[in-house]
Amino acid sequence: MTISIESTVGQIAAEHPLATRTFGRHGIDFCCGGGRSIREACEAKGLDTESILEEIAGELAAPDADLERWDEAPLNDLIDHILAAYHRPLGEELPRLEQMARKVHRVHGERQPELLPELLSTYLGLKEELQLHMMKEEQILFPMIRQGQGPSAEGPISVMESEHESAGDALKRLRELTDGYQVPGEACNTWRALWHGLAALEVAMHEHIHLENNILFPRALAS
Ligand SMILES: [Fe+2]
Ligand SMILES: [Fe+2]
Repeated sequence: MTISIESTVGQIAAEHPLATRTFGRHGIDFCCGGGRSIREACEAKGLDTESILEEIAGELAAPDADLERWDEAPLNDLIDHILAAYHRPLGEELPRLEQMARKVHRVHGERQPELLPELLSTYLGLKEELQLHMMKEEQILFPMIRQGQGPSAEGPISVMESEHESAGDALKRLRELTDGYQVPGEACNTWRALWHGLAALEVAMHEHIHLENNILFPRALAS
């Protein structure tokens, strides 16, 4: 596919995985906002579309341009990859971040009443949502897709997509609250580690949602 200003962000990310580096750098949402054209996405961010396209072209010309093309791999392999690269690690990471968020809130909550209580409650809501969401994918939707019933999975897929939006909103709120994960001067080590962990969670969730919304679900429906 040649990329034009009317290509959607989701298509570009699916067909040229390295382009997601450019999207990540400029905060262009390529998972839940993947249906917008690159032109619309750039305009919404006040970015120059042509220079973003040039930057993407630069990424694609890089010598390590060998990320897996999940838009071409068998669906079973894609599901295995989503489970191994995102679901399993989240099983450990979500409780670890909860422990840190609770600790930072307990120790510093009074000094940062505008930030830490809402941060903790937003995080706990996200964690619970994600755990239920992944359980539904693992127990209902993914087995349907593996059994070739993807075309009749419209209902479960639309529920998963709206849950992705809700997770995306929580991640956006966490980014706003933390001012883009800038570590405050007085932050202790746990606080630093929490900011770092939440920022990494955001990156992984964007990739995870992208693989489901823009690749797995449309391919399963069309299979
Ligand atoms: Fe998932
Ligand atoms: Fe999902």
